Amino acid sequence: MTRSTILKALAVLTLAIVTARADESATLKCFYTGGPAKAGLNVEYEGVTYGFCSEANQKKFQDERAASLYQRIGGKAALNAAVDLFYVKVLADERVNHFFEDTNMKRQHTKQKEFLAAALGAPTPWTGKDMRKAHENLDLREEDFAAIAENLQATLKELKLDDKTIGEIMTIVASTKKDVLNQ
Ligand code: HEM
Repeated sequence: MTRSTILKALAVLTLAIVTARADESATLKCFYTGGPAKAGLNVEYEGVTYGFCSEANQKKFQDERAASLYQRIGGKAALNAAVDLFYVKVLADERVNHFFEDTNMKRQHTKQKEFLAAALGAPTPWTGKDMRKAHENLDLREEDFAAIAENLQATLKELKLDDKTIGEIMTIVASTKKDVLNQ
């Protein structure tokens, strides 16, 4: 291959990449309205590009992120570490570990991270089962829920979150109780 052929190939490749990038932002939708996003208003958050149709919606997104428990505890990295430690505790807890005997724990970690991220205010939606359906065949009791909540609380304490933040997280988790217990 001659030098000029290589240069031409590089030029074509660069053009293709630039065009693909332009297309990507042209097809981006507003996070809130689903309408077309306006150029120049994109926000990068944890490796994802979010588009907005107005400056007001862009600001709303940034304000919501800053106020979220999710971001206040340290976002994805912090939540992932918490869920990993939480399941170490759950699987060591003889009151409840038998519930997970047939569970694919790799999938469970992923699902729990996704669920809690959405519940604590990440911009990523929960797309898994609703809590009623996810637990309907387990015949769970109050004491099972209390044991799981206790393991989560101990995890958050071990990770040195402050008491107020732990309280806020536990309130959100407690709000799932009726559904988890299928009451
Ligand atoms: C404390 C609140 C709880 C939350 C937020 C929660 C969250 C979740 C989530 C997100 C899933 C995955 C759903 C999916 O596959 O789409 C799940 C599944 C499961 N949960 Fe919970 N859970 C809670 C309480 C409990 C309790 C108290 C137990 C038992 C002691 C339990 C046992 C299980 C089991 C065994 C599965 C997996 C079922 C399977 O193998 O597919 N969970 N839970």
